[in-house]
Amino acid sequence: MQLLERFRARFAAPAAIYGAPGRVNLIGEHTDYNDGFVLPAAIEFYCWVACAPRTDRKLVIHSENFSETVEGNLDSLSAARKNHWGNYPLGVAWALQNSGKRLNGANLLIGGEVPLGSGLSSSAALEVAVGFALLHQSGLHVDRTELARLCQKAENEFVGAHVGIMDQFVACHGRPSHALLLDCRSLEHKLVKLPPVIQLVICNTMVKHELASGEYNRRRAECEEGVRTLRRVLPEIQALRDVTLGRLEEHRALLDATVYRRCHHVITENNRVKSAMRAFECGDNRALRTLMRESHRSLRDDYEVSCKELDLMVEIASAQPGVIGARMTGGGFGGCTVNLVEATAVEAFKQNVATRYLAKIGLSPEIYVSPAAAGVRQIDVSSSNFGQR
Ligand code: GLA
Repeated sequence: MQLLERFRARFAAPAAIYGAPGRVNLIGEHTDYNDGFVLPAAIEFYCWVACAPRTDRKLVIHSENFSETVEGNLDSLSAARKNHWGNYPLGVAWALQNSGKRLNGANLLIGGEVPLGSGLSSSAALEVAVGFALLHQSGLHVDRTELARLCQKAENEFVGAHVGIMDQFVACHGRPSHALLLDCRSLEHKLVKLPPVIQLVICNTMVKHELASGEYNRRRAECEEGVRTLRRVLPEIQALRDVTLGRLEEHRALLDATVYRRCHHVITENNRVKSAMRAFECGDNRALRTLMRESHRSLRDDYEVSCKELDLMVEIASAQPGVIGARMTGGGFGGCTVNLVEATAVEAFKQNVATRYLAKIGLSPEIYVSPAAAGVRQIDVSSSNFGQR
């Protein structure tokens, strides 16, 4: 049954459909909340929202993934239980309303194919799809950058995860065949064409270590501590984005050893994003390989957000023919790796990586090949092959 029909069966009304994509980050990890640079691409895995207005001020939201319904009143939105999926859509409504948008009540049915909790940003896809749907159903409009900001605000202040803006931004601004170079301070962005001979291959370790969200917030706090300390001698800096490697080394003695390593990761990673951008522009695959390898090492050793499954997945992938680069992607502690693979080598890559990972870890990885995809949009159900979903 299609999502629309399931909506009709549940809510006895027709609906419009909206979709927002998950993402993979090519390079620039844990830099977004340090005012730095990132290079993500939206992927062909979407969160779908079927939505229709109600006559009262209620939101009734059913998730197919969780087989559960949450409700909220637009005039008194508050978070459901801690760590509950319902906080994401309710938080988006809260953030939109707080920004002065008066929303209509609505029924929503949420489905989707972004693997949950795998570091492919299923939560940002959900937030952005719901935000776009609620605005559209209320006859309102905000530009895509503002929508991304409001969804981030929902996650920061309503859900309580201190994430940066990368995931929401690319869920809004993604473009087919392109990655997006984003300056997370100015929010200026530039599309980077991905060569058709290179495919994005995502390997899911199938593990998610529990500490992810607590450790994420802790890393962010450590970066902030680094800025506070360095500001004593470099009063002009606002964020780690403003600190050069030379300055960091010069003032290393001021910093706690762990905080120094966190800062070292962020500063070198920002440099790697800029180098990767140049490497994409001039087709320098060898440079890309080195940059992705260094990024992974830095996340493993300096930032300490990798895990043995991610390290192994990267090690196996890097040894395969036709692999341009491999590294962990997203927040870390499990989830996925991103691999740039020559198109002709993809099939053998998938088989070899799956066999070797299974042999060592005892889990069958999921391996996805995805073109870079478009950002959030309304789906024209009459003309698309949406019936498959
Ligand atoms: C998560 C967050 C992003 C970003 C990445 C790490 O995906 O949502 O804002 O910080 O981790 O790069």
